[in-house]
Amino acid sequence: LRQETEAALAAAADLRAWDAVRVGTLGKSGRVTALLKGLGAVPAEARKARGAALNRLKTELETAIEARRVALESAALEARLAAERLDVSLPPRPNAPGTAADGAIHPISRTVEELTAIFGAMGFAVAEGPDIEGDWYNFGALNIPEHHPARQDHDTFYLPAGPDGRRPVLRTHTSPVQIRTMLSQEPPIRVIVPGRTWRADHDATHSPMFHQVEGLVIDRDITLGHLKGCLIDFLRAFFAIADLPVRFRASYFPFTEPSMEVDIGWDRKSGELGKGSDWLEILGSGMVHPRVLANCGIDPRVWQGFAFGMGIERITMLKHGMADLRPFYESDVRWLRHYGTGP
Ligand code: PHE
Repeated sequence: LRQETEAALAAAADLRAWDAVRVGTLGKSGRVTALLKGLGAVPAEARKARGAALNRLKTELETAIEARRVALESAALEARLAAERLDVSLPPRPNAPGTAADGAIHPISRTVEELTAIFGAMGFAVAEGPDIEGDWYNFGALNIPEHHPARQDHDTFYLPAGPDGRRPVLRTHTSPVQIRTMLSQEPPIRVIVPGRTWRADHDATHSPMFHQVEGLVIDRDITLGHLKGCLIDFLRAFFAIADLPVRFRASYFPFTEPSMEVDIGWDRKSGELGKGSDWLEILGSGMVHPRVLANCGIDPRVWQGFAFGMGIERITMLKHGMADLRPFYESDVRWLRHYGTGP
C-alpha cells in the first residue's frame, strides 16, 4: 500500500490528480481509512500492534501526500512566473494610431466637443459652474421653492448643512448655471453649459453621476420661434440627419413658461433615428420664466430668453447605438477603443 501510494503520488502531475490520490488513501472511503475501520475485527491480542503499525503508516502517508502538494504548488507557481515573464528591456510596441492606448478621446468628451462646435458656430460661448451648489441656485432661484413637488423628481444628494443652516446639494441639473451666468453677465447672453450632474438613481440607463448640457439665450425680442429653430438646427447637425423629424410637445418645468419637451423621430424596433414613425423624448426646453429673470436682476419687460437641457450620455448612446450606460465610467480599454476617437 505504501509503495503503491508513493508511486501514484509521483505520477500525479497536477493538483487534481494529487487530490484523487489523497481521497483514495485518507478520505472517508480511502484505503487506509478502511484498514483502520477493520481493526475492530482483529483479535484482541493482535489489535494493539496492528493499530500502532497502521497509525505509523497513516502518518507517513500524510507526510508524503503533503510534501507532494507543496512540490506541485511550487512547480505550478514556477510555471506561471515563467509564462508571465516580461522582458522589460524590449522597446515599447508601437500603438495603432487612434486607439485608446494612443490616447483616445472619451465619448463624453467627444460629444462635448461636437456640441461646442455646433453651438459655437451659432454664437454660443461655454460657461461652467460648481458641482456642489447652494439650494437657492439649484432650486430656489429656478422657481422651485421648498416643498415644490418638482424637488421630489430630482433624487437629490444633500451634503451636511453649512453655517447658514442650509444643506448644499450635488447639482441635480446644469440649470443653476443659468442663474450664475445671468447674475454675472449683462444680456445679451448666449451660453451652453456642459457638466456633471448628480441624482440618486442607478440602473442600466441611470448613473448617480451623469452629464448634461444646458443652453441659455437672453436677448431682446426672443420668441419660441428662435428656440425651435435653434434646437432643430442643433439636433439635425448633431445626429447628422438633415431631415430628422423634430416634434415640440407642451410640458412643464418650474423655470420655463411655456415649457416644451422635444422628441425626435425614430424606429423603436431597429433603434434607427430619422426612420419609422415613433417618437423619442430627447430634451427639455422653454422660454425663461419672467420670475427667474427677475431673480437675477434682469427686467423681463426688456429681456426675454429661452433655455434647454439634455443628457449627454443619452444623446451619445443614441447617436452611436450604445445599449448600456455603465461602460462610460468603467475605463474598459476595449470599449474606449471601440467608441473613442483619436486625438
Ligand atoms: N433642467 C431640466 C432637467 O434636468 C431640463 C431643462 C433645462 C428644461 C432648461 C428646460 C430648460 O430635466
